[in-house]
This record gives sequence, C-alpha cells and structure tokens, in this order.
Amino acid sequence: MRVLGIETSCDETGVAVYDTAFPGPAGLRAHAVYSQIALHAEYGGVVPELASRDHVRKLLPLVRQTLAEAGLATSDLDGVAYTAGPGLVGALLVGAGTARALAWALDVPAVGVHHMEGHLLAPLMEDDPPQPPFVALLVSGGHTQLVAVEAIGRYRLLGETLDDAAGEAFDKTAKLMGLPYPGGPQLAALAEKGTPGAFRFARPMTDRPGLDFSFSGLKTQVLLAWQQSDQSEQTRADIARGFEDAVVDTLAIKCERALDAAGSNTLVIAGGVGANKRLRAKLQAMCAHRGGRACFPRPALCTDNGAMIAFAGALRLEAGQREDASVNVTPRWDMALLPPLVAGKP
Ligand code: KG4
Ligand code: ZN
Repeated sequence: MRVLGIETSCDETGVAVYDTAFPGPAGLRAHAVYSQIALHAEYGGVVPELASRDHVRKLLPLVRQTLAEAGLATSDLDGVAYTAGPGLVGALLVGAGTARALAWALDVPAVGVHHMEGHLLAPLMEDDPPQPPFVALLVSGGHTQLVAVEAIGRYRLLGETLDDAAGEAFDKTAKLMGLPYPGGPQLAALAEKGTPGAFRFARPMTDRPGLDFSFSGLKTQVLLAWQQSDQSEQTRADIARGFEDAVVDTLAIKCERALDAAGSNTLVIAGGVGANKRLRAKLQAMCAHRGGRACFPRPALCTDNGAMIAFAGALRLEAGQREDASVNVTPRWDMALLPPLVAGKP
C-alpha cells in the first residue's frame, strides 16, 4: 500500500510516501521537509497564524516535489494520511483539508494520525525494528512522556512532565543565554565545546520515586548561573554542557526506572530531542548495560517529518481504519484514547 503522509502540526511542512510492500527503510520512497524557522525567528517563537499561511503556500508544491522524487503519480497512491493533532488548530486544518480533498479526488481512503504516535512509530521504519512490548520515551518541543507500548495502538502513560517539555527546556535555556530560536540544536552544538563538570545543575525529581519530570526549575538555575558569570563564550559553552548533562542524566534515570517498572529491556526514543547526540549515547549505553537495546530513528526522522505520518497512517489504513469525508482535527488529544490497531479489525 502506497500512502502519502502530510505533517503540518507546527512549524514544519512535511510530506512523504511510504510503501508497505517494502519493509523497513526501503518503504520510504521519498520524503521532504520545509522548515519555517526563518519565518518565525524574528519573533523568537512560532506565530500560529503565520505558520498556517505558510503551510498553505508550501504544502502542494512539496506534495508535487515528493511524488516526483518517488517517481510516482497521484494515481499511484492507495491512501492519504495526515496529522490530525495534537498541534496548532489552523496549521492542522491546512494539512487535514488538503489530505481529505486529495483522498476524495483520488477516491482513496484517508486517515488522521496522532502526531505523537507518528513520532513513537518512526523507529519502526528503520532496519531491525523492535517489536512491542517496549517502553517509549517521547521527547519533543511539546511533550515529554514515558509510555508503555503494549501493542501498536495500545499505549499506557507511565510518566510525563509536570511543566516544560525537554525540548522546550532546551529552547528556553538557549534563549536566556542569547542564542537564536529554536535554540535546542544550537545549545547542543555549543555544549560540545563546554567543559564537563564546570557547572553542575540538579537532576530534577530523581531523588524520589516516580516517573514524572519537571524541567522548568532547571532553566531558572541556568539563568542565575549565567547572570552571575563573566558571560564569556567559554562560560556559555560550559553552562550549556552542564544543562545538557542534567537533562540527559535525568531522562536516562527515569528511562531505566520505566524499563524496570514495565519489566522490559527495549527502549524506543522518538521526538526532536531524540536527535541529541549525548542523549543517544547515554541511553544506548544504559540499555546495553542491562542486556537490552535503545532504538532511535535517524536524526532527520526524530524531528517533525511527513515520513512518520505516512508510516503510522499506512499501518492504520492497512488495519481498515479510515475517516469519513468531513475535515476534523483534534488540537488536544490523549494518545491513550487511540483505537488499538488489530489488522483487519478497525
Ligand atoms: O519533535 P519536534 O521536531 O517537534 C515537536 O513535536 O515539538 O521537536 C522539536 C524540539 C525542539 O524543542 C528542539 O529544540 C528540540 O526538539 N531539538 C533538540 C535537538 N534537535 C531538536 N534538542 C536537543 N538537542 C538536539 N540536537
Ligand atoms: Zn513533533
């Protein structure tokens, strides 16, 4: 089944074609992402109305480009998947309206995909994919969650952040030290030049049992350290390193606890912060130490993309799920409410 995937939940327009006839990475026939970073940079964050308008401008050209790269015509498509939530309502509606109209015109089924399920399933597009049950760490700009994946489509929340998401903490911390939006990847790059141990910040909520997170206090600690420092380039890098180590250690401690709680040795990591090199190395080492493994998508499939939506949508379409002809989105959406995915039984 060849499925077109459309992602427009925030500030990236993503389009891809996934063909389930080819397992693993070969199924990804083409994917393209257009990032709106330059558009929002001068405002220091995403401006929802500008995001929606830019998706309108970029989506159809990106669909044409992706199909051309895959060597396919629209008539070769067997289904269309789109992000139906969570996300910015206007931005979601652009993708949903376009996907729904395309599916209607081509007389193929359409399915709305949960953005975080897309992230969660992205590692399954890679070689030697893990099989449920496993534990998933979802770390993006809007979410930080530990999820017990009992089966594809059966998700039980084990813990989540009580305030800032991990990606949000990266972005806000970068901003308060004067780095441009979106600061996460830039802060991570700066941390490479920092001296380990020069600054040590707390590992929030690791001194008590539980699987929830809290990252907002960390940024206050960084602010104080930055304000009281000489604010040199080296100090900025040292603080970045101290912050990154604190977030990475905290995530690793909670992931290990979650694996223990779920009786699992397989950890799947997804979402933008999953592109972080130090997090990847730390979680790989932690899982290897207990005789298990950590599974990541390649970095380009950690951040928002259309491939994960095409892939998750293809699984759901193959299981018989589809939407009616109305255009609906769900800006707030609990992943535990998704229908389980049983082949042939919607
Ligand atoms: O999954 P994603 O692309 O979008 C959301 O669904 O939110 O995640 C974006 C987040 C941003 O907060 C960004 O700063 C963070 O992921 N991020 C990183 C890295 N690359 C992206 N954070 C730390 N290190 C990175 N290398
Ligand atoms: Zn995302």
